[in-house]
Amino acid sequence: VKSDRIFLVGLSGSGKSTTGAELARRLGWVFVDADREIERQDGRPVTRIFAEEGESRFRELEASVLRDLGGRSGVVIATGGGAPTTPGGRDAIGRGFSVWLDVSPGVACRRLSVDPHAEERPLLKGNPEARLATMLADRRPCYARSDARVDVDALDASAVADAIVGLHADSAGLAATVTTSSSRYPVIVENGALDRLGEIAARVGLKGRAFILSDGLMDSVYSQRAAASLHTGGFAASVMSVPGGEAHKTLFEAGRAYEWLVEHRAERGDFIVCVGGGVVTDLGGFVAATYLRGVPFIHVPTSLLAMVDAAIGGKTGVDLPAAKNMVGAFAQPSAVVIDPTVLDTLPERHLRNGWAEVVKHGLILDADLLTDLEAVAGDPSAMKSVDLIARSVAIKATVVSDDEREADRRTLLNYGHTIGHAIEAVTGYQTYLHGEAISVGMHVAGRLSVALGRMAPSELDRQQAILRCCGLPEAAVDVSLDAVLAATSHDKKVSGGRIRWVLLDGIGAAVIHGPIAEGTVREAASPLFA
Ligand SMILES: NC(=O)c1ccc[n+]([C@@H]2O[C@H](COP(=O)([O-])OP(=O)(O)OC[C@H]3O[C@@H](n4cnc5c(N)ncnc54)[C@H](O)[C@@H]3O)[C@@H](O)[C@H]2O)c1
Ligand SMILES: [Zn+2]
Repeated sequence: VKSDRIFLVGLSGSGKSTTGAELARRLGWVFVDADREIERQDGRPVTRIFAEEGESRFRELEASVLRDLGGRSGVVIATGGGAPTTPGGRDAIGRGFSVWLDVSPGVACRRLSVDPHAEERPLLKGNPEARLATMLADRRPCYARSDARVDVDALDASAVADAIVGLHADSAGLAATVTTSSSRYPVIVENGALDRLGEIAARVGLKGRAFILSDGLMDSVYSQRAAASLHTGGFAASVMSVPGGEAHKTLFEAGRAYEWLVEHRAERGDFIVCVGGGVVTDLGGFVAATYLRGVPFIHVPTSLLAMVDAAIGGKTGVDLPAAKNMVGAFAQPSAVVIDPTVLDTLPERHLRNGWAEVVKHGLILDADLLTDLEAVAGDPSAMKSVDLIARSVAIKATVVSDDEREADRRTLLNYGHTIGHAIEAVTGYQTYLHGEAISVGMHVAGRLSVALGRMAPSELDRQQAILRCCGLPEAAVDVSLDAVLAATSHDKKVSGGRIRWVLLDGIGAAVIHGPIAEGTVREAASPLFA
């Protein structure tokens, strides 16, 4: 789990090494300075790697060292100042509890001027204070994604270590922190988290009364437990049951929820709690985003699909008779609370449905996750694993944490979705669950990746083996390929009439690809359809 390792990030001069060593001593953990580790593995000093091979080669080495460290337990890692600025570095850091040691450039500069190694820092030539200020301005959005921040200007290493020990203790169950331009919130994944809901709501600063919207198809035991936990946390809580199922993700049901809130005189200072699958988190999030022009809310997703996908990323909305998700709003919750034990009652087909997105996360961005999924593929209980769910959640959370420089990365989440959405639409959302449709879609995208020479056939075999093992379909032989291809052009991910395909260069390495000739698509897809 994330809390087994701590990554320290921040500018040179923020005290990462001194603090890290001190912190490791207190926790009885090992301390590793990532730059020293790179030097040890490469055999050259960092300055020489920079001089001889340039920054991008250094960043590659750094990402690989951080990735290895991210698999260890009981370790405090001081990262290089630029590590969180690259996707590879960021993904690795995401696997631990990350703390930003926030130092002002002036203070950092004073500290560095008395550091005997200052001469060796390749990025600090010239006027160091000005350079540090520029670097900070540039890197701030990346540093701000950390799980916690400590203002270190007025603190010595020992006081900073104290602060981090406290923050780390509070981070139990934290799987990811989603950071957007307007908000920042924790995603907790922990067995029993439902019974800590009240405590978590208090910790994220919620006040007032809780209004729980709960999936009526589900056993009310979950909403009762949510209410009880909120009571214990000092919140008054009432429950409204909303009818579950896609057919009820409507403006009509949103309207009923508004009326219930008005009846109970819910105010801006109160908050909504959405307990259910993706239908309830989408609908409830939309109600929260629009009631009184927006009240705070917490998501408590209860289906695997909602845990690893729907509840994270801030998209809320309802369907119109004409099409799905036609009305909605972006709104970020105050927290997402995931208790994998509730999956015990989720029908197996829905468990597999969510698993398709977990496999997708491994396929597009995390080869290590895919390897770990392969290791447990035959075992259905693995689909309720805290660790695997948390890692999948972390991938979606990193990708949706916005960063203007990487708007494209969100598109990678659409792997398998161009064809998947089309299958769902053509079959009227009746025959295929979303995860089943994208499983077929991933098969098509994988075959295209091979046909275009991007991915080796053996890697496609790996993809298909794991999807098969999870009981997900490889083909949709009852569905007309012509209809599917016609529907892809209506896909809303179409930009200016041109489809942006997501393909794989290999496991864990998704790329965005421009339009592909219909003949090529047809050839790759035809064996899988009617
Ligand atoms: N906002 C987003 O970014 C996003 C992303 C993906 C999907 N979605 C939306 O999510 C919806 C699909 O989500 P879903 O698959 O969770 O559908 P769902 O909410 O209909 O849940 C699936 C079924 O499982 C039941 N259920 C849920 N949790 C249970 C539990 N713990 N025990 C027993 N039964 C349980 C539900 O009652 C329902 O019958 C779609 O509307 C889709 O558009 C949104
Ligand atoms: Zn999806």
